[in-house]
Amino acid sequence: MPHQEILLGVNIDHCATVRQARYRDFRMTAGGIIEPDPVFFAQQCELAGADSITVHLREDRRHIQDRDVERLGEVLRIPLNLEMAPTAAMLDFALALKPNYVCIVPENRREVTTEGGLDIVQARERVAEVIGPLQGAGIVVSLFIDPDPAQIRMAAELGAPVIEMHTGTYANSYFSVERKHEIARLREGAELGHGLGLTINAGHGINYVNISEVRTLPHLHELNIGHSIVSRSLLTGVKEAVREMRRLMNVGG
Ligand code: PXP
Repeated sequence: MPHQEILLGVNIDHCATVRQARYRDFRMTAGGIIEPDPVFFAQQCELAGADSITVHLREDRRHIQDRDVERLGEVLRIPLNLEMAPTAAMLDFALALKPNYVCIVPENRREVTTEGGLDIVQARERVAEVIGPLQGAGIVVSLFIDPDPAQIRMAAELGAPVIEMHTGTYANSYFSVERKHEIARLREGAELGHGLGLTINAGHGINYVNISEVRTLPHLHELNIGHSIVSRSLLTGVKEAVREMRRLMNVGG
C-alpha cells in the first residue's frame, strides 16, 4: 500500500490573538489599518500546502471573531475545521455556517489555551446532542480527547468518525522522564482508536522539535498545529513556516 502522507491542519487562532491585542475594541475585524488579517494568513497557509485551516470560536471571542469564520467559509479552497464547545449557541452557529469539519473541544474561560481533552464519558449526553445535528448537516465531527481508553471507546460509541488526541500533556513532558510514558499512551490510543474504526488526528503543543517523535505515532491522518507555526511565521514568513512543518511531518516518506 502506498505511504499516506500525514496531513497538516493549521490553527490560525494566534494570528487573531495578535490583532486583538491592538484592535479588540474596533467593530471592524479586517481592512483599513487592521492587521494582521487571519483570513489572509489562512490563504497564505493554503498556498504553502496546508491541508486544512482550524479556528476555535471561543465563547469570550478572545481571538477569532464570528466574521473571521464567515469569511474563511467564503474564501478557503481547503477544508475549514471549526473547534467549538458543545453548546446550543455554537451548534446554531455551526449549522448556519456548515464548515467541513467540527471538532468538539472543552472550554474554560480562565484557561490561557485548551488545557486538556474533553471528558466525553462525563459529558456524554451533551456531546451526543450536538453530534447528531452536525452529522445530519453533513459535517464531519471529531472529538478532542485525551489518549485514554475509556474516552476513545466512548468516541466510537457516540458514533463520531474522528478523534483528535490531545498531545499537550506529552508536549509539556518533552524534557522530562514522563515523556516516554506520554508517547506510549498516545501510541496505544492511536492503535485502539484505529482498531475501533476511528480516524486518528492529534494536536496541541506540537512544534518543530517534538514533531520528529510525534510523526512516528501510528495511523496518523492529520495534525493540527497552531502556536508554533504562527510563532515561526514572525521570523520566516507564513509560507516558509508551513512548508517546513509539512516537510518535517513527512520527512523520509
Ligand atoms: N487542537 C486543538 C483541539 C486545540 O484546541 C488547539 C489549540 O488550542 C490545537 C490543536 C493547536 O494547539 P497549538 O496552538 O498548541 O499548536
